[in-house]
Amino acid sequence: MIKKAIFPVAGLGTRFLPATKAQPKEMLPVVDKPLIQYAVEEAYAAGVREMIFVTGRHKRPIEDHFDLTLELEVALEEAHKTDLLAVVRSVKPDDMECIYVRQPRALGLGHAVLCGQRLVGNEPFAVLLADDLMIGTEPVLKQMVNQFRDWRASILAVQEVPAEHTRRYGIVAGNPVNSHMVDVQRIVEKPAPEQAPSRLGVAGRYILTPGVFHEIANQPRGVGGEIQLTDGIASLLRREKVFAYRYEGKRYDCGSREGFLQANVELALQHPELGPGFRQFLSGLCESTLHPQHNDA
Ligand code: UTP
Repeated sequence: MIKKAIFPVAGLGTRFLPATKAQPKEMLPVVDKPLIQYAVEEAYAAGVREMIFVTGRHKRPIEDHFDLTLELEVALEEAHKTDLLAVVRSVKPDDMECIYVRQPRALGLGHAVLCGQRLVGNEPFAVLLADDLMIGTEPVLKQMVNQFRDWRASILAVQEVPAEHTRRYGIVAGNPVNSHMVDVQRIVEKPAPEQAPSRLGVAGRYILTPGVFHEIANQPRGVGGEIQLTDGIASLLRREKVFAYRYEGKRYDCGSREGFLQANVELALQHPELGPGFRQFLSGLCESTLHPQHNDA
């Protein structure tokens, strides 16, 4: 149903400096997998087969990650490390295509999405921001594709955010259609809490109709001097229906150091191999931090 996805990965990742001085934020690993791979796996699970990466300077490691690594595969094969070989090969299934397009300057998320226009053409497509790590029993983009089947309109993943965090999100307001869907009437980029039309914040998953390209192309620079995807969607609202979908699952804001650390801890605890030992380590650590006197005794 949705065959193409855009992964904007051309941002500067300044919140993670110096880690992101010479390597992409999207390659930072959560436990043992880079952020971008979580997002690509989510898209694949939703039926997407054409992955379009909008890249910039210093983003070569992303291309290398999804490329064939012949020497590594030969070495693993010769060492009979079949499990690791399977791990390496699963990064890019045979029926998945990776395409790269450059965003010459980081002019904003809307501009990055616009860079994928020619590759997407005239069909609905997904946008996934890899720094929002989404964990759902059913992958979040798959939930959205299922909704798209019924509604045939643009769909934005949303969650309730604390009032004091509205400045971090695109905020939507509209009319509830059912317990999960909202018929969007307004969308505003990073409003102050007193100006926010609701507390429904947009997370980094979108299904968009191709009409959005035309709207983005006509946007002046918005918040932060950037060409904002939110502003393009606000214009699209005047012509087409747009829905907000309250997804089921958990989101880690891995664009922030705090969210990134939380994701690492929680996913390590859930890891079948590492989990039990890590849990023991953490409880020992908590014990000695919370009750240092026990250690001194
Ligand atoms: P962010 O808002 O997190 O920006 O972008 P950023 O530049 O990566 O990070 P900070 O704020 O400086 O730390 C959300 C997503 O959009 C992409 C980023 O790569 C990230 O995946 N993006 C953003 C682009 O591809 N191009 C842009 O011009 C801006």
